[in-house]
Amino acid sequence: LATSRRKRDKAANLAELVEASSWYHTIELPGGIVTKGAYDHRPLVQHMGFPENLTGQRALDVATFDGFWAFELERRGADVVAVDVEDAIGYDWPTGVREIVENEHLGVDVGASFEVARAALGSKVRRVPCSVYRLDPDELGKFDLVFAGDLLLHLERPLEALRRIRSVTSAKLVLADRYDPSISRRGSRLIRYEGGWQGLEWWAPSLETLAQWVIDAGFEDVEVKCVYQLATRFSDPAGWHRAVIHASAY
Ligand SMILES: C[S@@+](CC[C@H](N)C(=O)[O-])C[C@H]1O[C@@H](n2cnc3c(N)ncnc32)[C@H](O)[C@@H]1O
Repeated sequence: LATSRRKRDKAANLAELVEASSWYHTIELPGGIVTKGAYDHRPLVQHMGFPENLTGQRALDVATFDGFWAFELERRGADVVAVDVEDAIGYDWPTGVREIVENEHLGVDVGASFEVARAALGSKVRRVPCSVYRLDPDELGKFDLVFAGDLLLHLERPLEALRRIRSVTSAKLVLADRYDPSISRRGSRLIRYEGGWQGLEWWAPSLETLAQWVIDAGFEDVEVKCVYQLATRFSDPAGWHRAVIHASAY
């Protein structure tokens, strides 16, 4: 950690700064620079069903990480707020892991690469350090469009998180998250508990269960827009199954 911070501090230009930073998202920056993200979401953008023109609308990107989706919503004209935890200490660690993370000060500044990308793009996205569990309309207001990608699988309490997301949504939710087709059975609400020890993945719900969470959190017009698989640069060549769910809040 200290080494990568030192490398970032010494970077003389954007290319060096990008090289010295670690990237979850593949983001196109000025000067033909493309960050080496663990994931490349660019081919997925057209399948998310975002309105082409979001001018005059407020959008929220929950769990923004390096900001790929926040910058995409801003590109479509939205006034964007992006939230994520301030430090990896804020993740839903199982108790045993939490003790190690806290005792050995293993927290990571989650927003460092976001800031590199934001500055390079000249973006006005406002990043607010805030756990999904603390989303509050009295603090952030409400949003016409809320996007939450690949977050629920990392949470111990996904339904509670969706209720907090519902509390700040005034019109539309776009949710992209993991499901397990092998346990999907029409009409059944099935879910596999993984327990958070492997890569902080707590749950693998069936598609029906994923959609039911959204309904149970108070959303309406819940619709599965598409399903896809997404590979990482490092492992899992096929990638988990994920679904894009649209829903409304009135
Ligand atoms: C797998 S990444 C997904 C990044 C991005 N949303 C996307 O779809 O590409 C998971 C993200 O969830 C964030 N996260 C984990 N726990 C969180 C919490 N309690 N509140 C807000 N964000 C959280 C992580 O910091 C990370 O940015």
